[in-house]
Amino acid sequence: MKCCLLSAATLLLFAGALAAVSAPATLRQAADSDGMLIGTAVRPMQFSETLYSATLAREFNMIEPEDALKWWVIRREENDFDFTQGDEVVRFAEAHNMKVRGHCLVWHQYNPAWLSPADFTPAQLSDLLKDHINRMMKHYAGHVFAWDVVNEAFDEKGRLRESIWYNQPGIGLADQGTRYIEQAFRWAHEADPQALLFYNEAEAETLNRKADAIYEMVKDFRRRGVPIDGIGMQVHIPNLQIDSAALAANMSRLTKLGVQVQITELDVAIPVSPDKKPLHPDDLQRQAEVYKEVAAACLQTRGCTAIQTWGFTDKYSWVGSHSRGTRGAALPFGSSYARKPAYQALFEELASPSKRHNYRDSGSLPGASLPLLRFHMHL
Ligand code: XIL
Repeated sequence: MKCCLLSAATLLLFAGALAAVSAPATLRQAADSDGMLIGTAVRPMQFSETLYSATLAREFNMIEPEDALKWWVIRREENDFDFTQGDEVVRFAEAHNMKVRGHCLVWHQYNPAWLSPADFTPAQLSDLLKDHINRMMKHYAGHVFAWDVVNEAFDEKGRLRESIWYNQPGIGLADQGTRYIEQAFRWAHEADPQALLFYNEAEAETLNRKADAIYEMVKDFRRRGVPIDGIGMQVHIPNLQIDSAALAANMSRLTKLGVQVQITELDVAIPVSPDKKPLHPDDLQRQAEVYKEVAAACLQTRGCTAIQTWGFTDKYSWVGSHSRGTRGAALPFGSSYARKPAYQALFEELASPSKRHNYRDSGSLPGASLPLLRFHMHL
């Protein structure tokens, strides 16, 4: 009898150990088991906070500096690159076996004051931008696997935004449509041929005019061999609504052109009252559903390779200040790092094998960039 009791106990232990090996317990484990990237934007200032770092390392296999690689942080002075914060992010990622996405090289906003259109000719801006892309990408080559080369170049009507890089005064390709974007991608590819190159955009997730313009640009770039590997979809949701069928259709038409898509800045804001009343459970539930729908659209699209949230704790989300306090609580973890229903929804989607396309089959995707995708998927 003693022997039988012992072996029953051993069996139980064995079963427990097996379950521990096979059942994922975190977003990261769920994503890792299928070569999926689960990422978040980070602020290196917060790494010294134990809960921040522990949650980050436990739950994510990819990070992206929220601001540390933007011109206004890295180039406060024209001739001085301050890589301190970006390097900290890379060190954290490498210590925890995470991948790093770079954000961003060309943007009409968040540029330093010295970068004033009146002070530069197109030829000077062209040299400046080429040099910037080159220095940034060479510094991080082998450490940053994918870059948002150009961010938010289109307006809501699908026209190119006026900007210092496009036509005010531009880099010498003013009013020539997407040629300045093409030039930035060609410089980026020269600077680091191994890096995946993304065009990143806001409010172009569903089938609207901006999304159509991006689709046409990708089609044109692919046809002419302009080096573009992916489209980043920001997915900042302000109103607890998402047309997930249109999101999936948009992802699907892009991946059919031979590029991958990544969700790069997901957050789902909840209206908050000025008197800071507790969040309504219905809103938290609706938020969870939106997270679930967005994750499902990605996981079901072969070629959607990453889901990244814009921060992970409500404590440090940009949504509060951006909405002047009218919205908040947009992320999967609360301000004290408690898991919200949104976390649970993301986890269930990632951990559910029936929902996923098989990334290991991604070799059958069209497009020359995809072997690179597979190469980079090995974490
Ligand atoms: C935001 C950051 O979250 C803020 O900290 C910063 O003050 C402004 O930029 N689209 C983007 C991101 O591509 O870079 C923006 O990040 C949010 C909108």
